[in-house]
Amino acid sequence: MKHFLNTDDMTREDLESLLDLSEEFVEVLDRTIPKVPALRGKTVAMLFFEPSTRTRLSFERAAKALSADTMSFSPSTSSLSKGESLKDTALTIKAMGADALVVRHKSTGAQWRIADWTGLPVLNAGDGAHQHPTQALLDALTIRQHFGTLDGLRIAIVGDIRHSRVARSDISTFSALGAEVTLVAPSTLLPVDLEGWPVKVAGSIDDVLDVDVIYLLRIQAERGGASVFPSLPEYVSRFGMTRERFGRLQENAIVMHPGPMNRGVEIAPEVADHPRARILEQVSNGVAVRMAVLFRLLGGEVHDD
Ligand code: NCD
Repeated sequence: MKHFLNTDDMTREDLESLLDLSEEFVEVLDRTIPKVPALRGKTVAMLFFEPSTRTRLSFERAAKALSADTMSFSPSTSSLSKGESLKDTALTIKAMGADALVVRHKSTGAQWRIADWTGLPVLNAGDGAHQHPTQALLDALTIRQHFGTLDGLRIAIVGDIRHSRVARSDISTFSALGAEVTLVAPSTLLPVDLEGWPVKVAGSIDDVLDVDVIYLLRIQAERGGASVFPSLPEYVSRFGMTRERFGRLQENAIVMHPGPMNRGVEIAPEVADHPRARILEQVSNGVAVRMAVLFRLLGGEVHDD
């Protein structure tokens, strides 16, 4: 594995082997000294051209738990504001000795260009509305920990699917692992063309309250998501995970959200704080999953494929 850009072409075996490796790192993170020397001497650079709390800190924590050094780049305080191109920025960071680049960018495909320009391993931390592969892995790990498998599970993804890179990565990952995925959104927040997607579609959250996993998404206002439905109260009435709807879920069902949450919109505060909402477990698993991916890309000798 040279890069980690996309979940679409990953087989069930690829995914399961990454999840198994992630479980080993869950165990490492549980130790009194949660650190292994696997990537000592390596430097991982974080290039986040879009805002991030979880993903960026989680990659940083993952790199450090593997004993790698990290470097961070912030667009607002960098020479991007002086007109430096993406290519020159990436080559500059390479010239300082980075061994891998973790990149988030608003443009679909930016990471593929950076991989070509630099020749370094690139980890996609989100490109526009396209892909967010480590999010999909941490989501799959969280579901697998609860149910033992994704095989045969029914998963509903509810919200702004059109603008969601999380949904795109989750759909291919969940279905490759044997789950049945249903999308729930106003028609204006569904992708324009679902031809070939391994999904069903439902018109209201009330139609999917019998699933095993309800996965809620934020409306991506920064990508135009907020302008395409009438009002927030109307959105909540058809698509919000309210306390009342939570009470109608199956006893063993779980609620997930990639964060950041808009409490009171897609998820009621009481639901967000309930133990069957696995949102903070998702965050914790993110560190282990990112350790697994960094280790696969940079650790070489043990798990080289
Ligand atoms: C998501 C993202 O940035 O794609 N957040 C995350 O990485 N956990 C989802 C979002 O911004 O809504």
